[in-house]
Amino acid sequence: MKMDAIAADPLLAVTDLTVYRGQAKILDRVSLSLARGETLALVGESGAGKSTIATALMRLLDGAEVEGQADLSGAGDLLALPEAQMVRLRGRRMSMIFQDAGAALNPAYTVGRQLISVLRRTMGLDRAAARARAVDLFTQVGINDAEARLSAFPHQLSGGMQQRVMVAIALAGNPDLLLADEPTSALDVTIQAQIVRLILSLTRDRGASCIFVLHDLALASQACDRIVVLYAGQVVESGPAHDVLTRNRHPYTRQLQGCVLEIGRKDLLAPEGNVPSHDQMPEGCRFATRCPRALPHCATEPPPLAAADPARTGPLDHAFACWNPE
Ligand SMILES: Nc1ncnc2c1ncn2[C@@H]1O[C@H](COP(=O)(O)OP(=O)(O)OP(=O)(O)O)[C@@H](O)[C@H]1O
Ligand code: SF4
Ligand SMILES: [Mg+2]
Repeated sequence: MKMDAIAADPLLAVTDLTVYRGQAKILDRVSLSLARGETLALVGESGAGKSTIATALMRLLDGAEVEGQADLSGAGDLLALPEAQMVRLRGRRMSMIFQDAGAALNPAYTVGRQLISVLRRTMGLDRAAARARAVDLFTQVGINDAEARLSAFPHQLSGGMQQRVMVAIALAGNPDLLLADEPTSALDVTIQAQIVRLILSLTRDRGASCIFVLHDLALASQACDRIVVLYAGQVVESGPAHDVLTRNRHPYTRQLQGCVLEIGRKDLLAPEGNVPSHDQMPEGCRFATRCPRALPHCATEPPPLAAADPARTGPLDHAFACWNPE
């Protein structure tokens, strides 16, 4: 399919997603699109709102007010559908792998029982067929001795194995949209990278699309087709991975890129300074308090997300939000 056709028929189109917790605006008019079969990385510092986006799309956010629109092809606006319809979509059309697998699995049931019950519900399989499929899925996600592992309780598995179980559960109903929140930092960095690659290769094999939450811009650019960079709940830059990594225009992305170049220095992944607290957030560009290129009006007037190349203005093209770009 040509790029224009893909852009005209996205799997998911999120428009002006805004989330409030009390007075605090946790997400501010977040817009993003996802093509079929595409992997999109959401990148940004801790607290940027990455998990909030994924959880809002699944309609699993508690205690928050949500505005905006999120159209999933063939299903309608995820933010407006009746809950009964969301129950049917979860697991079948879309599923989420949570940041903390230990907390997402039920400690009272074996992992096999949890996977088998999802397979029976989403695929309508009988017990024997679901069990056979569960063994298959465990093998695909790299769990050795899959048959025996079905009888393990979550606490009997390592953090990495628990994440693999979560991946198997998320893929059980063959969803066409997977939301993957990066494995917790409690996991060894090498195991985290293995799980990221596992999720991406399994979703690609199935022709599914994936929104992947990542801290790490370098990993995002190697592993994903497109990148959305978030700062304090706003999209500051988005586009094809190569453009965002090597031709970025937003000062925040530029700083993140600088950090990435310090290979192996995980502690340098955040630029200097702190994100302002929600009661002191600038009205305009939220990066104004840390930006070396800030102009007087930056803090009061929000910069719109605009195409980097005026000839390429589609929702999948390179865009950034800045009054005084690099
Ligand atoms: N349950 C909650 N109650 C109040 N504030 C919350 C809650 N969950 C998240 N927040 C706030 O919402 C903002 C975005 O949080 P979110 O968890 O989406 O960030 P994140 O980008 O996923 O961060 P991390 O990389 O640490 O996972 C943060 O300011 C956070 O403090
Ligand atoms: S809009 Fe202004 S403050 Fe914000 S990133 Fe651009 S130059 Fe910096
Ligand atoms: Mg998170």
